[in-house]
Amino acid sequence: MNLKKNLCMTLLLALTATTATAQVYLDPQAPIEERIKDAISRMTTHEKIQLLHAQSKFTSAGVPRLGIRQLNMDDGPHGVREELEWNTWSPARWTNDYIVAFPSLTCLASTWNRTLSTAYGDAVSEEFAFRGKDIMLGPGVNIQRTPLNGRAFEYMGEDPFLAGEMVVPYIKAAQANGVACCLKHFVLNDQETDRFAVNVNVSERAMHEIYLAPFKKAVEQAHVYTIMGSYNMWKGVHCCHNDELLNGILKRGWKWDGALISDWGGTTNTMEAANGGLDIEMGTYTDGKLKESEFGYDDYYLAKPFEKLIEEGVIPMSVLDEKASRVLRVIFRTAMNPNKVIGSQCSEAHYDVCRQIGEEGIVLLKNEKNILPLDANKYGRILVVGENATRSLTKGGGSSELKALRDTSPLEALQAAYGDKIVYAQGYYSGRAIYDQVDTIDPAKQASLKAEALEKAKTADLIIFVGGLNKNRRQDCENGDRESYDLSFGQNELIAELTKVQKNTIVVMFGGNPYSMPWLSQVQALAHCWYLGSEAGTALVNVLSGKVNPSGKLPVTFAAKYEDYPYVKFGAEAYPGVNKQVYYKEDIFVGYRHFSTNHVKPLFPFGFGLSYTTFAYGKPSISSNGKEVMINLSVTNTGKVAGKEVVQIYSTAPQSHLPRPDKELKGFAKTRLLQPGESETLNIVIPRDELKYYNESTHTWQLATGAYTFHVGANVNDIRGKANLTIEN
Ligand code: BGC
Repeated sequence: MNLKKNLCMTLLLALTATTATAQVYLDPQAPIEERIKDAISRMTTHEKIQLLHAQSKFTSAGVPRLGIRQLNMDDGPHGVREELEWNTWSPARWTNDYIVAFPSLTCLASTWNRTLSTAYGDAVSEEFAFRGKDIMLGPGVNIQRTPLNGRAFEYMGEDPFLAGEMVVPYIKAAQANGVACCLKHFVLNDQETDRFAVNVNVSERAMHEIYLAPFKKAVEQAHVYTIMGSYNMWKGVHCCHNDELLNGILKRGWKWDGALISDWGGTTNTMEAANGGLDIEMGTYTDGKLKESEFGYDDYYLAKPFEKLIEEGVIPMSVLDEKASRVLRVIFRTAMNPNKVIGSQCSEAHYDVCRQIGEEGIVLLKNEKNILPLDANKYGRILVVGENATRSLTKGGGSSELKALRDTSPLEALQAAYGDKIVYAQGYYSGRAIYDQVDTIDPAKQASLKAEALEKAKTADLIIFVGGLNKNRRQDCENGDRESYDLSFGQNELIAELTKVQKNTIVVMFGGNPYSMPWLSQVQALAHCWYLGSEAGTALVNVLSGKVNPSGKLPVTFAAKYEDYPYVKFGAEAYPGVNKQVYYKEDIFVGYRHFSTNHVKPLFPFGFGLSYTTFAYGKPSISSNGKEVMINLSVTNTGKVAGKEVVQIYSTAPQSHLPRPDKELKGFAKTRLLQPGESETLNIVIPRDELKYYNESTHTWQLATGAYTFHVGANVNDIRGKANLTIEN
């Protein structure tokens, strides 16, 4: 009996002992919050501190003693960046890090296709997972306020609703694979000029309605795991450790539970970093990308200096615990997530996604006399002119540069499709893709390239000009904006002269930004391609040849001239700033909000894009259930070839004392591929919350009651139907 009792006691003790030390934090079945609590209770102060800063260029430490894994990060957002050395920006020269280069995010936004955004997030995160990464540095949803922004190609256009709607599926799909997105750059990083120091002055209303809105949607609807603070300042404080922005708006206001990662070199102060909402400090003292640092990781602001303040009791342990908990949450959601996928690299499925996004993101802007789709039988010799026909556009641009395994150029794809008919002349050159320098252009070389193209044009029956921007400094590249709205390297003059020799000229442009087009009336067709990644040539030729009917629409207004952009009339204070102060004087009237309200005619309006077919819109019907407004309409393909159409809903709010834009995008849908004669009924649901404006006196979102008009448009200036609805409280 006694023996039995003793045995029971021993068993009980053994059981209690196991329960007390049960490693809940390692139990993948345990709720994450319990795992975090358990892990924190086992960690020393120093171990917690180690979680909060870099241990190499692109990793932060875990807790090796406890078997808690480190976080492996990499750029983003268009594919996995090549491996760099542990401590430098130099390539590590691995041979297994060739990847699929996906199209730029402007291209994704141009598809207006949420399903493709899911496919993008899914495919790109599989490549990150396979490369052993836990966090992809991207996507970005800064607003395309100026067409000069060197990084616009990494973002999703000028409209917060479109950017928000398109980024949510991408993040959801990536994170479902156990790879965290790091949404960037929070916030107001809308120019590269003076990006490390410029202080942005913006009204509270514009801040919320325009600049914060896509980030808020990504937090509330996609529960993005990490966010990157921006270099610039707001209210005189760097956004990487801005208490009002990060603790006030993001963490308390939006109830965000993720980890805030600094931009590389964006941290400048321990006290601010500790109290201002920064969780992981990366890239300190590297001056962005320009200088290597001898600075040891223990000397980071959130390393030893922070530890000292904790030990001295200047900053309470609760602040450290909170940051460490946020980082652990990311680790458990990614690196230690039992459901994280193994992923794959350069699979045919990824190339398919890449190509489809390219095909749907290309925007056909002009097509006189239906010169497109191209009937190659009509032409004996097709002259391709332009550096972008052969230049790799996956290279350059800064941190988003990619080491692509496959990089099909337009010329290769045109040759594959049309064989010997294709003749090539470079026409102009732009120099090497260098991040911090611009090559000097030799006028004699430029002139001889031009002369060669003009000579070859004489015997050509059709010209396809392939140019635009590239990823050189001062084109579309990080840490510097474009210098002019005009295209560089003599392209405007070259196109004008080519069209004098041969009027059958099709222009194909790459680039993340709009540009002036003095030659537009002289060319027959124009397609804008953003950047298309690995399958650039194939996607382009599929659209030009009509194998795929274009269905992309602009996520940004193309102005006829630079002066038409809303901030320009306010002078340098409004862009790029004076003495490192920039004032967003156009307020909420960014992009088409300005063009449509102030009746400025753009060259190509927001939402514009042509197709090889035509669509008829049925009469919209509207209803409301108190929470949502529902708009139904049928769309019919009235042309001769199959195609997809993007239908856009713009609201006009009731008159009030507040200035409201003439039209604001509040909903959109894309049809499936409709055969000639086929119809589809679209049901577009607009949550009432989307109709709210930001009230600066109450600091809250409010719904104006009264009569709303919902415009059904093929673009913001091509309204095909209207529905009215009175909205009561
Ligand atoms: C860029 C970030 C990038 C980081 C790491 C910074 O200069 O602004 O977007 O993720 O470098 O390469």
